[in-house]
Amino acid sequence: MEQNRLQNLKNQAILNIFEAKTEQELEELRVEYLGRQGELSQLIKKISLLPVEKRKQIGELINETKKIIQEAISSQKKSLQHQLSPQEDWFDITVPGERPPQGHLHLITLAISEITGIFEKIGFGKVAYPEVEWDWYAFEGLNMPQNHPARDEWETFFIKDLFSPQYGQAVLTPHTSSGQLREMERLGQPPIRMLNIAKCYRRQIDASHAPMFYQFEGLVVEPGINITHLKGTLDYFVKQYFGPQREVRIRPFHFQFTEPSFEVDVTCIVCGGRGCRVCKQGWMELGGAGMVHPAVLKNGGLDPQKHTGFAFGWGVERVLMMKYKIDDIRLLFGSDLKFLEQF
Ligand code: PHE
Repeated sequence: MEQNRLQNLKNQAILNIFEAKTEQELEELRVEYLGRQGELSQLIKKISLLPVEKRKQIGELINETKKIIQEAISSQKKSLQHQLSPQEDWFDITVPGERPPQGHLHLITLAISEITGIFEKIGFGKVAYPEVEWDWYAFEGLNMPQNHPARDEWETFFIKDLFSPQYGQAVLTPHTSSGQLREMERLGQPPIRMLNIAKCYRRQIDASHAPMFYQFEGLVVEPGINITHLKGTLDYFVKQYFGPQREVRIRPFHFQFTEPSFEVDVTCIVCGGRGCRVCKQGWMELGGAGMVHPAVLKNGGLDPQKHTGFAFGWGVERVLMMKYKIDDIRLLFGSDLKFLEQF
């Protein structure tokens, strides 16, 4: 008898509770079912009238019903509160998140690490040498005596008041070739396989020249090194960096610190070598190279009778601009995100 009553009471209570529209209504229901005058309390009072065997069973049932009604009330209360202030502690875990904005390395930095990776695969080790350098390492020791006209090409920044009686005036490195002598001095003997990537400075500015730019310089001095090794290395780099279709050629040129000297060309990125407005009959100029001049080996402390080597030096921005067909170097040093974010 009491069992049925309890069952009905519970069902009725739950229905009413989940239909409550306000907290006020809920409170009234709580009083109605659980309050002192409420039905459950009435039942509890009657327990003592029951036969002893039944008391425990009914007592437990009453407690259970009470608990269920209490839980229903607090759950409905929570959902009413949500409806009132949906943002407060509610979020939909199925809505895709917003990605935090993520930057990336600058494209010159990316190019430097790509170039480094390509040369590391064939045993070149990356080095770093001073950006403020002595005349000796930048010019004199590279077979360019004081006042030699060849120096004119390097439109150099000289540092006033910084002079060494032994090494001459201080300069901002106008090219990475100063690293050649530094590396020979550091190692003292072959084998040498150096990759020197560094900032260079020249008094120049236009669409393809900046006063500060990067070069990467390779130097190899090992037994039996000849031009074919140079050509093979250039070819390897060009195919790795620009793609397997690119061809390399070397053209006779003149540098004081290499003999023979070459300019290195690569087949045009735009026309693929057929010839177009951008290139010289299908070729684009990349940079200089040559066999290390005996005077330079000697100045680096190596015996030119015993050793031969090759060197090359190219602009990082230049190869990068060719690869991505960028026509103004100033874009690389500006901070226009519309440009930079494409890479
Ligand atoms: N240092 C030369 C330049 O700045 C390039 C070069 C490097 C040429 C090594 C030959 C050998 O133009």
